[in-house]
Amino acid sequence: MTGGDGLWITLEGGDGAGKTTQSDLLESWLRDAGRTVLRTREPGGSEVGQLIRDIVLHHRGDIAPRAEALLYAADRAHHVATVVGPALERGDIVIQDRYLDSSVAYQGAGRVLDAAEVRDLSLWATEGALPDLTVLLDLDPQIARTRLDAADKPFDRLEAEKLDFHVRVRAAFLALAVAEPARFLVVNAADTPDGIARTVRDRVTDLLAAR
Ligand code: TMP
Repeated sequence: MTGGDGLWITLEGGDGAGKTTQSDLLESWLRDAGRTVLRTREPGGSEVGQLIRDIVLHHRGDIAPRAEALLYAADRAHHVATVVGPALERGDIVIQDRYLDSSVAYQGAGRVLDAAEVRDLSLWATEGALPDLTVLLDLDPQIARTRLDAADKPFDRLEAEKLDFHVRVRAAFLALAVAEPARFLVVNAADTPDGIARTVRDRVTDLLAAR
């Protein structure tokens, strides 16, 4: 992405697809191999971002779709400028839960804003920064909902949306992966966590070898 030697990996997918589990497994594997890893997330990967996260996920009542898109973009701008960019400059491996593809999928397809405009907004916010690898954990929203129900935690504003919202989000993620096959690795999130982790490790191994 930037001038640094780091590697930037983002994980995407619907709520309940298993991003945290896969980030944990990837982080342990990389740390065991002696790599320096930064774990981060959007929204909320910086102090300013925590404040924005609280608004976008927990504000009671509606937020206008364009305001919501701008809040995510503001979080992203500050996060890339102050957290991700410096880590990549240092040569760290950044494992990040969600990035601009989430905005295209959730604010674009989910909230029905123009997908290209939402993407351009984030690219403006981050001066065009794109990850080296984006792992898309693809899962039927019905299965994801069953997993979230089993976790027995209160839903945030997005999780609480109806099934058809999540069906549109899933389709948007898959379309993004088709449009950028070199950046995306699509995995079936219904597979076993170990099986998925192996597939991700293989791709990361290739990326590290190619550097
Ligand atoms: P998570 O941290 O549990 O993944 O929750 C973040 C929620 O925010 C999730 O429902 C997806 C949503 N989201 C967007 O709508 N747009 C975005 O740009 C990002 C990063 C997340």
